[in-house]
Amino acid sequence: MKTPFYVTTPIYYVNDNPHIGHAYTTILADVLARYHRNEGDEVFFLTGLDEHGQKVQQAAQKRGVPEQQHCDELAPRFSDLWKKLEIQNDDFIRTTEPRHIKAVQAALQKVYDAGDVYTDEYEGWYSVAEERFITDTEKDSGHFRDVKKLKERNYFFKMSKYQQKLIDYINAHPEFIQPEHRKNEVLGFLRQPLGDLCISRPKSRMGWGIEIPFDKEYVTYVWFDALINYITASGYLVDEKEFKKWWPASVHLIGKDILTTHAVYWPTMLFSLGLPLPKTIFAHGWWLIGETKMSKSLGNVVDPLSLVDQYGVDPVRYYLMREMVLGQDANFTMESFIKRYNSDLANDFGNLLNRVSGLIGKYFDGCVPKEGQAWAPDKEIRKVADGLAKNIEELINGMRVHEALEQVLVLIRNTNVYMEHQAPWKEAKENLERAGTILYTATEALRVSAILLLPVMPAKANTVLEILGAVGTEPCWGQLKAGAKLQSHDALFPRLDAEGKVITKS
Ligand code: ME8
Ligand code: MG
Repeated sequence: MKTPFYVTTPIYYVNDNPHIGHAYTTILADVLARYHRNEGDEVFFLTGLDEHGQKVQQAAQKRGVPEQQHCDELAPRFSDLWKKLEIQNDDFIRTTEPRHIKAVQAALQKVYDAGDVYTDEYEGWYSVAEERFITDTEKDSGHFRDVKKLKERNYFFKMSKYQQKLIDYINAHPEFIQPEHRKNEVLGFLRQPLGDLCISRPKSRMGWGIEIPFDKEYVTYVWFDALINYITASGYLVDEKEFKKWWPASVHLIGKDILTTHAVYWPTMLFSLGLPLPKTIFAHGWWLIGETKMSKSLGNVVDPLSLVDQYGVDPVRYYLMREMVLGQDANFTMESFIKRYNSDLANDFGNLLNRVSGLIGKYFDGCVPKEGQAWAPDKEIRKVADGLAKNIEELINGMRVHEALEQVLVLIRNTNVYMEHQAPWKEAKENLERAGTILYTATEALRVSAILLLPVMPAKANTVLEILGAVGTEPCWGQLKAGAKLQSHDALFPRLDAEGKVITKS
């Protein structure tokens, strides 16, 4: 049976220059989407852009262009990057699209009609950088830039009304906020009284937003606007059947920087709208440079494009998925990138391909030999390979992507060791049939591995399958056809030197 799987990324600020952090969340979503598609699930993968608010307005004014034009000019930096990174998203939502404006206004009206909105004059500290009122404690922390005193009349959403309901919900649904330490963080936050949420901005001060349907002098606060994207794109109030199919989302992937907005604001909004909550909100850690978060404002960003141009898309995707323990922070260094590339991709994966194709070329005219009679060591490889897909499925569903990759690499490494021990190049001289069994076993293990790596390295894994003449993408044992002609090929992942330059053989 086809299960619907709806995965989302945050909608990124259109003003930002996409960096490795944005690429990470989007690749992670793509990897999950691809695994689920391969398992036969029906997948809806949404990403997009957050285009309203003060920062966009200011940037547009600075350039002297209308806001919409500014957004239209910047948006392709993201959509083009996703193409380059082999991202197969099903939709790309921009919050300035009419479909979204309609959904936000309808949602606001619903929340208003439910009696969950009131107006009040409020005076407090306002952070221009964060685009929200901050508490005295937050102001005293010194973490906020551009803070000023502001007094104005605004609309407020009765978030406090849903505090207890949210606490109860979180306690009753352990899979709702993941990983567990993030859930505890949210529960800790909810031990303090939850205030109400200011959801409007007076046009006199900031006009670049979605007009509030019940007061034309105001636009919608950018977070209330942005979070709605997840239901806009799945058909909210437009296509009931579609919406029922996809909502609630299976997983919202986010970075830990936006946990409160997703795990507190969003669920209370959904409560008010009478809609079910997403099954899981998964907050991953940060890519750090040294000790600090990679971010535009700190000027320490790694440009995914230049990495991809130099090393290709697959090693970049692999590194990001393998190096970060999902849920924890990770350090981005070129040193660790080169190390992973050389050890996992060049020495293990690429090397196994070279060995089997070289030996099959030499002793079997480049045609896959017969499996023949399997001995104990062959059966051992076969057993692990045959059970791997099931393990990977469990690990992926448990959001343990790095462990899933490690398991595939363990099979590849063990197969290389198996080749060393079984030495088909020696057997070939006395017992060609035995050599054939060893090479079939190693090649079939390689084929299964390549299939299980497809979601992470779609191009290179596919190249391996083509070289092996594999038909289909069944990760179970015995699909490789004896007699299939292997294609000649270059090194899959040419080794890198300590500076990251490709080592060319002299
Ligand atoms: O917050 N490490 O957009 P944004 C890992 N528009 N991931 C990182 C990262 C890093 N150093 N830096 C950024 C917004 N990210 C809002 C979202 S959603 C309704 C609105 C990723 O452009 C991570 O996913 O600041 C983080 O949550 C997101 O980019 C923030 O993107
Ligand atoms: Mg940010």
